[in-house]
Amino acid sequence: MSEDLLKKITAHCKEYGFVFPTTEIYDGPGALYDYGPYGCELKNNIRQYWWESIVHAHENIVGVDTAILMHPTTWKASGHVDAFNDPLIDNKDSKKRYRADALIEEHLARLDEKIEKEVEKARKRFGEQFNEELFRSTNPRVAELSRRRQALHQRLTEALRNNDLETLRAIITEEEIVCPVSGTKNWTEVRQFNLMFSTQLGSHSDDTLTLYLRPETAQGIFVNFLNVQKSARLKVPFGIAQVGKAFRNEIVARQFIFRMREFEQMEMQFFVRPGTEDHWYEFWKSERMRWHEKLNLGPGLHRFRDHDKLAHYARAACDIEFRFPMGFKELEGIHSRTDYDLRNHQEHSGRKLTYYDPDLNESYIPYVIETSIGLDRMFLAVLTAAYLEEKLPDGSERTVLRFHPALAPVKFAVLPLVPKDGMEVMARKLFEDLRKLAPGQYDEKDSIGRRYRRQDALGTPFAFTVDGQSLVDGTITVRFRDSMEQERIPASQAPRFIEEQVSIRRLVWS
Ligand code: GAP
Repeated sequence: MSEDLLKKITAHCKEYGFVFPTTEIYDGPGALYDYGPYGCELKNNIRQYWWESIVHAHENIVGVDTAILMHPTTWKASGHVDAFNDPLIDNKDSKKRYRADALIEEHLARLDEKIEKEVEKARKRFGEQFNEELFRSTNPRVAELSRRRQALHQRLTEALRNNDLETLRAIITEEEIVCPVSGTKNWTEVRQFNLMFSTQLGSHSDDTLTLYLRPETAQGIFVNFLNVQKSARLKVPFGIAQVGKAFRNEIVARQFIFRMREFEQMEMQFFVRPGTEDHWYEFWKSERMRWHEKLNLGPGLHRFRDHDKLAHYARAACDIEFRFPMGFKELEGIHSRTDYDLRNHQEHSGRKLTYYDPDLNESYIPYVIETSIGLDRMFLAVLTAAYLEEKLPDGSERTVLRFHPALAPVKFAVLPLVPKDGMEVMARKLFEDLRKLAPGQYDEKDSIGRRYRRQDALGTPFAFTVDGQSLVDGTITVRFRDSMEQERIPASQAPRFIEEQVSIRRLVWS
């Protein structure tokens, strides 16, 4: 996979109405996107798959929908005012701003590329007899590059862990990292930059209050912890889930919808008895991986990665990484957050946030395991796995999105082979019946081959075709998007077929 694939996916999304850059007519600000007709359907389906799996499939998890603008002390208590920072550096010639750690990571990636190039060269030279492991450990150039890479990675990790801005700057100068725009090494010092957007509440200049657009949805859950526990009569362990917008003033905002300034999170805080958090951390790690695997996106696309640098609130944390076009990157985070948030909200608000445990006959502040996934990032993962440019046996080509039928934005198409002789009447009737069950399309324009291609590009899993034989015996063909095979079934079976194949609920409970 490659950056080239990301470009193709981005272009496909625009052409077929999945995702558009925002405010494009004004050359809108970067890293902000609008979802088009098929994009918002796909996004809704992913959201629903998450919501039903987390909330409806667990008796002890409930949902909330909390405000984006919260009292500013929330963010002092959560640590975001003081610690939600990125280390920034400016190039004095190009005036471009970068994340210092990202510049170093790109440099590390270049070292990786050099190593891989050496290995590939040797593979070609030695052919069949090539022993990759031996080569990697004995070739002096590869060994030296690997040693350099490892030492640098270690130094970066430690500098980030210790918020050591001077070392970050030192790495950039010692490694002679240049600005990709100006090509120079004329760098400023490294500074911390807070990622929260702020705004003003109040109509008079003398009584304004500075508020932040929430950088995570989690705090809306924490501050409502007792409201929800009491009103829904929940006993520990229990969870509160939320899907909603979050905002971050990201500096490195590239790579399409991977890193956005406004995005959606699907988060769940699971409140547990102190001392049981390690058990629940492992439990949610495997539950969440199972959720991803049920979508069958493909082998080798997911992996766990433990965090080198723990966030300011975490006791243990890992990511579920996905193989995006630009490599393995974070898709979801699972964090053991201790009682950090509730304890700090208790201190800052002066309100008691303890839970009375009737089984232990004691009160305590619960510990929290969090699962947090970006909806937009999941959207990109689903697209990455689905996108395929395929050469067909007849020499033609097609671009197909192989979505899981439960996630596909359009579930079926009904196509009269030709819109005449009554085929269009039968097809229209079938469409009217099926659209009560799931979103679909009726299409009679252009040749049948072109119509199939259009549906392939949208990821429609099933196309029902009404032909001459349909008028005689009431059968239709189902065309399967991925195999392109066709099967004849009675038209009367189509509703049941659709209901069985595209149900999100079935996927959740499978
Ligand atoms: N409440 C914990 C939290 O917010 P995070 O690792 O900062 O943790 C969780 O974010 C998830 O949100 C990430 O795994 C990612 O999927 C998504 N996410 C974070 N920043 C994002 C951004 N700028 N654009 C898109 N998705 C983002």
